[in-house]
Amino acid sequence: MTTTTRTQVAVVGGGPAGLLLSHLLARAGVASVVVELRSRREIEETHRAGILEQDSVDLLVDTGVSDRVLRDGYRHEGIELAFGGGSHRVDFTGLVGAATQLYPQTDVFVDLADARERDGGDVRFGVTDVAVEGLGTDAPRVRFTDAAGEEHELVADFVVGADGSRSLCRAQVPQAARRQYFREYPFAWFGILTEAPPSAPELIYNHSPRGFALISSRTESLQRMYFQCDPGEDVADWSDDRIWEELTSRVGANGYTLRQGPITSRSVLPFRSFVQEPMHHGRLVLVGDAAHTVPPTGAKGLNLALADVRVLAEELERAVAKGDPAPLETYSERALGRVWRTQHFSYWMTTMLHTLPDATPFDVRRQEGELALLASSVAGSTYLAEAYTGWPGAR
Ligand code: PHB
Repeated sequence: MTTTTRTQVAVVGGGPAGLLLSHLLARAGVASVVVELRSRREIEETHRAGILEQDSVDLLVDTGVSDRVLRDGYRHEGIELAFGGGSHRVDFTGLVGAATQLYPQTDVFVDLADARERDGGDVRFGVTDVAVEGLGTDAPRVRFTDAAGEEHELVADFVVGADGSRSLCRAQVPQAARRQYFREYPFAWFGILTEAPPSAPELIYNHSPRGFALISSRTESLQRMYFQCDPGEDVADWSDDRIWEELTSRVGANGYTLRQGPITSRSVLPFRSFVQEPMHHGRLVLVGDAAHTVPPTGAKGLNLALADVRVLAEELERAVAKGDPAPLETYSERALGRVWRTQHFSYWMTTMLHTLPDATPFDVRRQEGELALLASSVAGSTYLAEAYTGWPGAR
C-alpha cells in the first residue's frame, strides 16, 4: 500500500535550506512537503559553522522565523587577523557599515523546524529509501518510506534537491546535462567544543608557521576552535593536553593565550570546493550544499545556501504560477553569480591563511606579504569586510 500525496513542491532534504524554502513558499501560498533522512535530533546534534551574514539574519527575522537570533546571538563587528607575531583588527562596521551575528547553524535549524511546526508545515524526518522519479514528465515523484515503515509517494510540479553535499538529487541529472567543478585541499580542520569562557571578544583567524587556527565561540561558557590538520587525522590520537598544546602554540606565536576547559567534542572536517552547473534540470532544482560546497574558512556554507533559497523561492513561485520550469533556469543563472564569488572568497581566505604542505620559502614569505598588505591597506581590508559580512541583495 502506497499513500500518494499531491503537492506543488517536493523538497528532498530538511536542513536549513529545505526548511527555509518550505517556509518562504508557504508565505507565498505555495504548498510543499519536505522529506529528510535524518531525525530531527540527529541534525540538532551535528555541529556546523556559527556565523551569519547581515542579510541572513534579516531574512530569518523579517520572515518571522526567529527573533531569538537577535536575542541569543552575538553581534560581531570585526575579526582579528593574527600573523607575523601580532594581530590586526578588521573593523567591519567602520569599513562597510555591516556586522555579522554569531549564531550556530544548529540553532538556525531549530528555529526553522519550530516555525514549520508552528505554521502546520508538512516535514517528514527520519524517512528511508528516498527515490526521485519521472523527472522528464510534468509530474515528477518522490518515493520514500516514513519513520513508521509506511510507503509514500509525493506527486509534485517541481522537485527541489536540498539534500546536502552527498545529494542524491544531484546524481539524477544526466552527465551530459551537467558540469562539475572540484577542488580538494591537502589539509582539513580539527574542530573542538570546549567548556570554557571566551578567549577573545571576536573571532581570531590565526596564521602561524605550525598552521592555521581559528578561535570562535558559541556562548559565554562554550567555545568553538579549529586547527589545520592532515585530512587523515584520527581524533582518537588527540588527548585534551595534546590539543591544547597545538592550539596554544599556534596562537601563542601571535601573542594570544587561550582560556582552557574540558573538550566535549572533536571532529575532523574535510576541505572541498565543489560546484555543479546548471543548478536545475527539467523540473528538478538544486539548492545549497547539494549544488555546491565551500571550505569552511569564512563561514560561507550556510549563508550561501540561504541566499540560494531567497532567489529560488521567488523563481519557484513564478514557475508554479505558470506551470512552466523556465524560471528555474533564471534561478540557476542568478544564484551562480553569487556561488562563484563565494567560491573565490572561500578559496582566497583558505589559501591565504593556511600553511600549504608543499610551500617553498618564497611562497611562505609571499603569503606573509599578502597578509601584511591586507591588514595595512584600507582597500584590502574593505574587500575582506564586504565579502565576509555578505554582498547585499538577492544577487
Ligand atoms: C564557527 O564558529 O564554527 C566558524 C566561524 C567562522 C568560520 C568557520 C567556522 O570561518
